[in-house]
Amino acid sequence: MTRRVSARQHLVDFLREELGLTGAHYGCEHGVCGACTVRVDGEIVRGCLMLAVQANGRTVDTIEGLSDSGEIAGLQQAFHRHNALQCGFARRGC
Ligand code: FES
Repeated sequence: MTRRVSARQHLVDFLREELGLTGAHYGCEHGVCGACTVRVDGEIVRGCLMLAVQANGRTVDTIEGLSDSGEIAGLQQAFHRHNALQCGFARRGC
């Protein structure tokens, strides 16, 4: 998929506003809380600290895709069991 983005648009904004993928969201906006977490080329990144243009040509996995695949079902269940509700990983499982 190819999209035009503004130079200063953060990845989490692009995912939410342009693609309607709302699982990652803003919390602290400083790279601390993890609410904006996504996976880029297999590495965990904070979507509030990464610009959308930096994802050009890279593979971005969101909680929606990971949740649908069942890849993190055990983690989501553990977060739910322990009331860890803010993290982007647990968002769709809770
Ligand atoms: Fe808290 Fe990104 S919004 S780490």
